[in-house]
Amino acid sequence: MARIFITGSADGLGQLAAKALVGLGHGVVLHARNAERGEQALQAVPGAEDVLIADLSGMDETKALAAKANALGVFDAVIHNAGVYQVPRNSVTQDGLPLLLAVNSLAPYILTCLMHKPKRLIYMSSGMHLQGDPQLNDLRVGNSNGRVSYSDTKLHDVILCMAVVRKRPDIFANAVNPGWVPTKMGGAGAPDDLEEGYQTQVWLAVSDDPEARVSGEYFHHKKPSRYLPAAGDIAVQGHFLRLCEQITGVKFD
Ligand SMILES: NC(=O)c1ccc[n+]([C@@H]2O[C@H](COP(=O)([O-])OP(=O)(O)OC[C@H]3O[C@@H](n4cnc5c(N)ncnc54)[C@H](OP(=O)(O)O)[C@@H]3O)[C@@H](O)[C@H]2O)c1
Repeated sequence: MARIFITGSADGLGQLAAKALVGLGHGVVLHARNAERGEQALQAVPGAEDVLIADLSGMDETKALAAKANALGVFDAVIHNAGVYQVPRNSVTQDGLPLLLAVNSLAPYILTCLMHKPKRLIYMSSGMHLQGDPQLNDLRVGNSNGRVSYSDTKLHDVILCMAVVRKRPDIFANAVNPGWVPTKMGGAGAPDDLEEGYQTQVWLAVSDDPEARVSGEYFHHKKPSRYLPAAGDIAVQGHFLRLCEQITGVKFD
């Protein structure tokens, strides 16, 4: 039995992956933005071990989440799943950062740095990362004008994943494009298969299949796919990690 921590598991693909993993007999710790959502998450995923609470838009709450997760021991796998897509224009967090950047990019960065190292890491990206800006112009310190795009943040997730791959060769780290699927984020009209939208994460988290025990891939429906080559560029990764450290005060090592 493996133990898996899934961010953003009160809804959508995180909740579906959690249900599937519990169904396979694994230990799952959920995460939700507040106590009410936490209760709802536990009701939706009977058999989950616990739920941890943190609003990932706040850097201090995200750092505290890492400490809460560490208090539960070392996880076998962590799925960095929580994300936002359509946010009110120029949404800025209590830290003065674009909301998209805080939740989609900085939260996985902070948790990756501060949590005990699991054996497997999964970063939820998107096909839209291909339109992200590898120059990282919207990640500069002090840029609180909210111009960062969803595509930028989903590219950040792939860059972070590939930096982990390079710096932590003992871990299986992979990114996932779940397709455009009908969750709260994807909308009711999304054309792709919902089940395929979460099965890849489940497989990467626990499978002994040699094709799942790999690192440095960007999977779509369990198949390695092409990701933006800049994400594998050491200079881009270094730039990304430096900017994240400047913004969060947390060092990746
Ligand atoms: N659905 C798609 O078509 C699609 C396509 C490509 C990539 N993805 C990626 O797949 C992942 C999951 O997406 P989804 O479709 O399952 O989205 P979703 O249904 O909107 O679920 C997102 C989850 O993240 C949580 N979350 C958002 N902001 C948060 C915050 N500030 N603090 C804590 N939790 C927060 C949400 O909590 P609440 O429920 O409380 O809001 C929810 O549990 C995301 O990373 C997304 O970028 C999805």
